Amino acid sequence: MAKIAIVYFSANGHTEQLAHAIADGIKSQAGTEPMLHPILPSDITNGRWKNDSIVASLQQADTIVFGTPTYMGGYSAQFKSFIDGCSSIWYSQGWKDKLAAGFTHSLGLSGDKLNTLTSLMVNALQHGMVWVGNSVMTNSNSPEGLNRLTSYTGLMAQSNMDQPNIGPGDRQTAVLFGERIAQATLRWSK
Ligand SMILES: Cc1cc2nc3c(=O)[nH]c(=O)nc-3n(C[C@H](O)[C@H](O)[C@H](O)COP(=O)(O)O)c2cc1C
Repeated sequence: MAKIAIVYFSANGHTEQLAHAIADGIKSQAGTEPMLHPILPSDITNGRWKNDSIVASLQQADTIVFGTPTYMGGYSAQFKSFIDGCSSIWYSQGWKDKLAAGFTHSLGLSGDKLNTLTSLMVNALQHGMVWVGNSVMTNSNSPEGLNRLTSYTGLMAQSNMDQPNIGPGDRQTAVLFGERIAQATLRWSK
């Protein structure tokens, strides 16, 4: 069974809903299993994240999917503390040749989310990982539209202040993104 870790931070639940939708897409593909790992503020001390059991689980994974809300046009600080907390893995290239993918959620239609996805991708490439983009074809920019924000570097989603839940198009795009990640994992681990 190929293991796909989804590691994410979410303060208000939207990024977490995306993580679960991606997991649903992964579960729909026989032979792959998702592992959800929220980044918890209680694991951050003096600005640095540490959780040995999550690090061990990520080491077991064939693929790691990274998710964070976009804050000030980039990572949330909580997610960056996780990224920096894993920098020692870079020395030994412990994640080399795992697949990687990324997703982000924000309030603005743009919100500069591309910068967040690009940063996630650069981190993965520094680790020697192989980046999987989002291949879901856009079909409409309505709330029901697939890949309505037309992002191919990774998954982008957006909700307004008064929307506690992600919209149907963003949710379905996340499910399809999860399916693609699972299919890519199965091919890569052959
Ligand atoms: C400190 C901070 C900075 C933010 N910066 C941005 C931003 O640059 N662009 C944007 O569209 N939304 C921005 N937002 C809104 C967040 O992206 C939004 O609250 C988040 O995606 C909600 O995700 P969550 O429910 O998973 O916590 C910001 C929010 C906070 C708290």
